[in-house]
Amino acid sequence: MVVNGSAAAADGTAGPVVRVPVSLRVNGTERRIEVDTRTSLLDALRDALALTGTKKGCDQGQCGACTVHLDGRRVLSCLTLAASADGREVRTIEGLERDGVPHPMQEAFARHDALQCGYCTPGQIMSAVALIEEGRAGSDDDVREFMSGNLCRCGAYPHIVAAIRDVATGGRRA
Ligand code: FES
Ligand code: FES
Repeated sequence: MVVNGSAAAADGTAGPVVRVPVSLRVNGTERRIEVDTRTSLLDALRDALALTGTKKGCDQGQCGACTVHLDGRRVLSCLTLAASADGREVRTIEGLERDGVPHPMQEAFARHDALQCGYCTPGQIMSAVALIEEGRAGSDDDVREFMSGNLCRCGAYPHIVAAIRDVATGGRRA
């Protein structure tokens, strides 16, 4: 642990900056970084590990753009401290493909035209993958309900639901 007693905090208030080593298993690879204890998992992924597929939208837990998996469960990485993820398994959008082959959910999003600007898409896809693993994609209404934390300003919702239901049913609904 490293403490710089006289440094100013990022928000402008005075306070000690405490840096701690953090070890994460990210997309199957062990990564060791040192972070300010106040650093979010989102900032650690984007800034320290250069995994910029995870997007920062509101940075306040309200849009879902920053969704990643932590030990197999979806979390909002903007509300998760990097230090609290020490020793845990993180999966990001970059970790979904296998040997250059996109994940079925990525393929379904492309097939169903479920993205417009694409900014919300990584978070949508990470939530969608978790949703199916949680067994909560049994109907269009279920998908809408359990994806409600992921906002899309482009309004691609009908296509997103179609893509998720496509993967959930193992079919290829047009
Ligand atoms: S950036 Fe995390 S919920 Fe919006
Ligand atoms: S596709 Fe643009 S915000 Fe969702």
